[in-house]
Amino acid sequence: MLACGLTSRKESPVNLSIQLAPKHPQGLLLTNPVMTASGTFGYGTEDSHLFDIQKLGAIVCKGTTLEPRDGNPQPRLVETAGGLLNSIGLENIGVTALIKEKAPIWAGWRIPVVVNIAGETVDDYTQLAGRLDGVAGISGLEVNISCPNMKAGGAEFGANPDLAAEVTAAVRKATSLPVLVKLTPNTSDIARVASAVAEAGADAVSLINTLKGMAIDITERKPRLGSITGGLSGPAIKPVALYMVYEVAGAVDIPVVGCGGIATAGDALEFIMAGASAIQVGTASFANPRAPLDVLEGIEQFMEKEGINNLSELVGVARY
Ligand SMILES: Cc1cc2nc3c(=O)[nH]c(=O)nc-3n(C[C@H](O)[C@H](O)[C@H](O)COP(=O)(O)O)c2cc1C
Repeated sequence: MLACGLTSRKESPVNLSIQLAPKHPQGLLLTNPVMTASGTFGYGTEDSHLFDIQKLGAIVCKGTTLEPRDGNPQPRLVETAGGLLNSIGLENIGVTALIKEKAPIWAGWRIPVVVNIAGETVDDYTQLAGRLDGVAGISGLEVNISCPNMKAGGAEFGANPDLAAEVTAAVRKATSLPVLVKLTPNTSDIARVASAVAEAGADAVSLINTLKGMAIDITERKPRLGSITGGLSGPAIKPVALYMVYEVAGAVDIPVVGCGGIATAGDALEFIMAGASAIQVGTASFANPRAPLDVLEGIEQFMEKEGINNLSELVGVARY
């Protein structure tokens, strides 16, 4: 047993490492492909007593904005069949507190922390990227383009390839860090958006963010979420996410990070076989905070059982 009651795990005989930013000068090397999904694992500091989170590939922190935000009115979480609707509204401590309070903790960790950033204008993203550049403890940015663009009538940045490319290019210019762009499923052609952001300088893409949805309380005769609509996540969205990862992996030549309803190693392996180089575990962590580690251990067991030495041998094997 290690200090804090964490059990040790024997060295894996299989090579799970993955380079998420092969075109970037410093790169973003993960010892394994399991990441946490933004907004579902806080700042990585909250669950560090439950298991050794540094065994994971990377932590992606809560969505971060220029100013602190209280988020949307309650209720903000509603369970649905096989899924979760949320309308958290990007509640977060803001970039100044993140740099002061969280980054110094991350600087002592051996795993990379990727900061998820969100804004209402292209300038918000540019400023955030500039503020986070060169901060010790931060290894990359994940640009959440599912946010409404307040200068263009509130449509999501990521719904439109040109706008998505504009945000990506602006962030690329403002930072020397590896840049992942997190795609929204709320668009008619996600592969086109992926190609546009790859062209604009993204080092990798992650997908999917939540699907727009709602639920109604028939007794009260009103929407269940305080802000009426929200984002659907969890097992209900897995087939949609998997399909989109398959489509995007066929359209870009940068690494793809799969996300959406992953709760088991089997789920994760489906995404990897569809073309994802890494995966993120989100909603599953609410029911089982150890889910990311369980997924990692299950991937290792699968590879050992199947006699696969390198994870890269599995990436995209189910593509036709
Ligand atoms: C409560 C909650 C908060 C989230 N917050 C963010 C966020 O701040 N930024 C972001 O890019 N995605 C956010 N997401 C989306 C997740 O990172 C993930 O893309 C999505 O939930 C699908 O994965 P899952 O089905 O494994 O949860 C959030 C999801 C949930 C459920």
